[in-house]
Amino acid sequence: MSDKANAPTATPAAGSSAGLRGVAAATSSMSDVLGDKGQLTAQLKKVGAIPKEERPAFGQAINRIKAELTQAKEARQAALKKQELERSLTTNALDVTLPGRPALRGRLHIATQIMRLITSIFADLGFQVYRSREVEDDLTNFELLNMPPHHPARDMWDTFHTTTPGVILRTHTSPGQIHVMRECCPEPIRVILPGMCYRYEAITPRSEIQFEQVEGLAVGENITMADLKGTIIAFARRLFGQERQVRFRSSYFPFTEPSIEVDIDWPKDDPNADRLTKGTGWLEIMGAGMVHPTVLKNGGYDPARFRGFAFGMGPQRITMLKYAIDDIRQFWANDVRFLEQF
Ligand code: DAH
Repeated sequence: MSDKANAPTATPAAGSSAGLRGVAAATSSMSDVLGDKGQLTAQLKKVGAIPKEERPAFGQAINRIKAELTQAKEARQAALKKQELERSLTTNALDVTLPGRPALRGRLHIATQIMRLITSIFADLGFQVYRSREVEDDLTNFELLNMPPHHPARDMWDTFHTTTPGVILRTHTSPGQIHVMRECCPEPIRVILPGMCYRYEAITPRSEIQFEQVEGLAVGENITMADLKGTIIAFARRLFGQERQVRFRSSYFPFTEPSIEVDIDWPKDDPNADRLTKGTGWLEIMGAGMVHPTVLKNGGYDPARFRGFAFGMGPQRITMLKYAIDDIRQFWANDVRFLEQF
């Protein structure tokens, strides 16, 4: 009888751990006793040297010892394997009952969502989108909009200048009016001009150095203030609700004459109504007016034949109203806790 049949499998199945290899090592030393060249086999070989009548008893004794040792070895091997299996099951445990990791879904930034909403409302009203540049020259940002150098109205727009004289970051989207007019003249125009603007201002909960605006411009032969009012009322009701009242107040901008500011009434059941409207019930949403003849002329249109209306609004301000956001700095702070609410 050879101990080979009972030899521990020295190479455990694929995927076994170092622990299982340890089990094999712990029991393989038994081959010193049970192996072909082990001590028991050596004893059996001596059988010829002992008296004949003692041989059966000797052989039986050796075989009994061999059987007992083999059994003990197998039992120990099995126990070690079981122990190792339990250890690996508990330490490397995979709990299939745990909930999986959620797959995070991306979304559009709230500024993009509102911009798309505004764009789609004006698209319904027949306005195309014109993309104008963010880096402007002083001429287009101010002078051609009827603000000569040193005009006091320039104080309304604190400006970022570049190291190149006369090259600035646009302080509003209005200079786009000049670009679109010069490109389209003498055709009629109905466009909105969305985009980022920059102002050299203190950053506070109410003012940022960068923010978006949406400019609007319509130029044609028979355009009147009634067209401006109708367009703005239609827009405001689609954005803020069909029941909104719209109020026009006279105002001043160098590039429009007459100039107005537009307010909407704020729902009285909103707990923020008093704070937002400072008790008046009205909230300003944009500036607007009839395009100044000088500006029409600078765009290439004959003011004796053509008229136009223009408006400008801040989508961040409008979003703050719509969702009761109290700090404009949230928009570009990249805080997902803010962004994932929309
Ligand atoms: N550009 C103005 C601003 O930044 C907003 C504005 C007012 C634009 C009246 C207009 C307008 O087109 O007619 O404050």
